[in-house]
Amino acid sequence: MKTDGILVLDFGSQYTQLIARRLRENGVYAELAPFNISLDEIKSRAPKGIVLSGGPASVYASDAYKCDMGVFELGVPVLGICYGMQLIAQHFGANVAPASKSEFGKAHLDIVEKGGIFAGVSQNCVVWMSHSDKVEGLPAGFKVLAKSENSEFCAFGDDGRKVYALQFHPEVAHSEQGAVMLKNFSKICGLSSTWNMGSFAKEQIAKIKETVGDDKVLCAVSGGVDSSVVAALLAHAVPKQLIAVFVDNGLLRTDEARMVEEMFKTRLGVELIKVDASELFLSRLKGVSDPEKKRKIIGETFIEVFDTEAKKHGDVKFLAQGTLYTDIIESSPVGASKTIKSHHNVGGLPKDMKFTLLEPLREIFKDEVRALGLELGLSRDVVYRHPFPGPGLAIRIMGEVNKESLELLRKADVVLREELKSSGWYEKTWQAFCVLLNVRSVGVMGDNRTYENAVCVRVVDASDGMTATFSHLPYELLERVSRRTINEVAGINRVVYDVSSKPPATIEWE
Ligand code: XMP
Repeated sequence: MKTDGILVLDFGSQYTQLIARRLRENGVYAELAPFNISLDEIKSRAPKGIVLSGGPASVYASDAYKCDMGVFELGVPVLGICYGMQLIAQHFGANVAPASKSEFGKAHLDIVEKGGIFAGVSQNCVVWMSHSDKVEGLPAGFKVLAKSENSEFCAFGDDGRKVYALQFHPEVAHSEQGAVMLKNFSKICGLSSTWNMGSFAKEQIAKIKETVGDDKVLCAVSGGVDSSVVAALLAHAVPKQLIAVFVDNGLLRTDEARMVEEMFKTRLGVELIKVDASELFLSRLKGVSDPEKKRKIIGETFIEVFDTEAKKHGDVKFLAQGTLYTDIIESSPVGASKTIKSHHNVGGLPKDMKFTLLEPLREIFKDEVRALGLELGLSRDVVYRHPFPGPGLAIRIMGEVNKESLELLRKADVVLREELKSSGWYEKTWQAFCVLLNVRSVGVMGDNRTYENAVCVRVVDASDGMTATFSHLPYELLERVSRRTINEVAGINRVVYDVSSKPPATIEWE
């Protein structure tokens, strides 16, 4: 890492990203890495402190996830949380076993040692537990820092070795003073709260300059927030070496290609190279209905088109993408997380790709990207655009994608967006779109029977896309969307509203 900061090793807890988020919110740079990165890799990042995250496994299982235990010899403070805590206990000689009673939810902390990690934290504050295993004894050389009703060794530490362990999750909002505890750990690491998005922008610009040198960078622009922010970073760092390519893959929303081109010219001063590859994409997708296959095909075709485009510009070494941490953990088993779906800009990349990837946003989350965008001078309307997935409308059409289905979906999508914007709901929601269900239903229009397509409206609230709840839109608005869609889009006779949250559903349907 370029800046002094804390490295969070991810053992697969659903809260791991929040640890890094909380530290960054406290003004301390933090980045995540899979639990199994090598000690050399850890050393090369030179962290000032290490956090071992929670995780779903048990440390005593034969195939338990373990990091290189050399982390305790690096001379920097280590904090273990939940699974990480149990790993510390086991490594230093204590026994970890299944608890007689699982502990999920709120617990009251009985603080034994008031300084250090718990400096300024009030006695009996609420913390959030989520564990089924228990540390049965105190490892040698450690002292108890806090207890809870169900846990004699709820927090322990050793100031000499600067190793600390917490059974609960300080990173979740339910742990009332968890952010203070993480700040205290930063202080133990010798870090003060000096980092912010402005520093991140400066670091990334410097890093891009250094990495790119005199080479050229092809920036894959989709018009969404992420690739716009990447393009803005590149425009600051290496304006003369930037080749910003926008591929019209035929899977875009109405008017999108034109809007994107205009936006880049006027807002960023970047001249886009527009490539119309819609026929190529659609021909590759013919007859394909499996979601993962669609994603792979789209990802591969993208790279192929970029490759061809790049050749027209001489030797292009780098490909810049707006990949976020969310894309990475959902696409590949980072540490212990499971693959949910292959985000096209990650899992869909062919193995023999000729570019070196440049992904300056891969450590951060969507809301942080938005803050960065504002920092770089992008306008609010660009920064607060709803996310649009790389595979575009292809993953919003169940089954085979063709020109007719795309046209239907585009028309329905225009109605939805118009209604959300005019009612003021667009800005209040994270994402809003229609899904063509590949289901036909019987209806009646006038005196005639119809047998046409059903479309699903999906509108969600989220802060980083990792979790989401369906938006509680007013019925009157839903009614207007439904009435207009059925009246104005020939071929659709039914509109349904998706009331699932993520998890267990995902935001997109494929
Ligand atoms: P899911 O459907 O996984 O979506 O809950 C989470 C967020 O990611 C977007 N998304 C993608 N973005 N390439 C992208 O660039 C993809 O392949 C992709 N798949 C989903 C989705 O729109 C939502 O904002």
